[in-house]
Amino acid sequence: MRAAVLQHAGQPVTIEAVRLDPPQAGEVLVRIQASGVCHSDLHVRDGEWPRPGPFVIGHEGAGVVEALGPGVDPATTGLTVGQAVALSWYAPCGHCPACRAGREWLCSDSGSSRHRMSDGSTRLHRLDGAELYPYCGLGTLAEATVVPASAAIPMPAGAPPEVAALIGCCVSTGVGAVLKTARVPAGASVVVIGLGGVGLSVVMGAVLAGAATIVAVDRIPAKLARARELGAMATVLAGTDAAATDAQIRDLTGGGPDFVFEAIGLAATIEQAIGLLPPGGTAVLVGMTPFGVRAAFEVFPFVDGSRSILGSNYGFAVAALDFPRYAQLYLDGRLPIDRLIERRIGLDDVEAAFDRLRAGDGLRNVVTF
Ligand SMILES: NC(=O)c1ccc[n+]([C@@H]2O[C@H](COP(=O)([O-])OP(=O)(O)OC[C@H]3O[C@@H](n4cnc5c(N)ncnc54)[C@H](O)[C@@H]3O)[C@@H](O)[C@H]2O)c1
Ligand SMILES: [Zn+2]
Ligand SMILES: [Zn+2]
Repeated sequence: MRAAVLQHAGQPVTIEAVRLDPPQAGEVLVRIQASGVCHSDLHVRDGEWPRPGPFVIGHEGAGVVEALGPGVDPATTGLTVGQAVALSWYAPCGHCPACRAGREWLCSDSGSSRHRMSDGSTRLHRLDGAELYPYCGLGTLAEATVVPASAAIPMPAGAPPEVAALIGCCVSTGVGAVLKTARVPAGASVVVIGLGGVGLSVVMGAVLAGAATIVAVDRIPAKLARARELGAMATVLAGTDAAATDAQIRDLTGGGPDFVFEAIGLAATIEQAIGLLPPGGTAVLVGMTPFGVRAAFEVFPFVDGSRSILGSNYGFAVAALDFPRYAQLYLDGRLPIDRLIERRIGLDDVEAAFDRLRAGDGLRNVVTF
């Protein structure tokens, strides 16, 4: 099969013919139909997150089950040949303390975070036999993948594969940050900094939560227009003068928002998010920085004003529960996930999609197969 291979961070991915082994016990083979190109793929492509590869990259995918490994029970998993699935990049181990507590986004024994199957092995090889590894346990920028059954989540009938793919990362991350991590109450004021697939999903989540004020911030005017279409009531074009940007945001939120979501992963905008908080306000950090980045804030007013900072991994997703729920909200017309898609591209266009992502040019690029 063809796959996008990252041999060395910092160098372009190459489209190669690779070998995919059959599913082993507890695994399923999924024929990929759609895979988004997320900024987290770009972080690893650009070497900002050094990790032991080489990888088949991609972690925002969906497809159709093609084969079940031994012991995968259709009755308990809902997985049958031909079933449409969205893929989760954090397959829970099911036995660690976090999994037992239902907090699988904190799983301490997930093969996904080691980019391996749960036993440390891989089903991906070069034609000469050399091992390749599935990024986040998925490797969705490929024609097919083998994943743990717990990573393949059945989708309701009618959910398009592109929509299911985005549920697999940016939608669950952004919507979940609002509804699950921050539990934004109706009537709250919300600011979103950074309007990629993740930040625009935060905007959609804030609409679902019934936020009274949603202010969307980006440095690219076209992103602001899309945020308005998705329900932002006001927008701010982030300029080079940070103080002027902050003053506009404060004006629009009666002195400062109840919640600020940072969806870029830059120290400067993380510090901006914390600095915008009024007493009692909460900054929710969703964007991921390169490894080693630190951010700073003045402690006295932070504590004196009882402010909060929350980190949100994967929107606290419990994939088996949340993925079908987000898909149903899409089908009911309440979560317009398809509006995040800028263009459908081929596997050969992944590097061009990375260039666009670096430049902030356009919304989600989705590879369709
Ligand atoms: N927490 C999680 O579990 C999780 C999951 C997925 C992605 N992420 C991270 O979320 C971040 C966003 O991902 P994405 O795919 O939406 O990325 P993206 O590149 O599509 O979006 C980033 C947006 O930020 C804007 N931006 C960049 N610099 C800016 C600045 N200085 N001021 C204002 N706007 C600015 C860009 O124009 C762009 O619209 C990445 O760091 C990604 O790794 C986190
Ligand atoms: Zn992602
Ligand atoms: Zn676990």
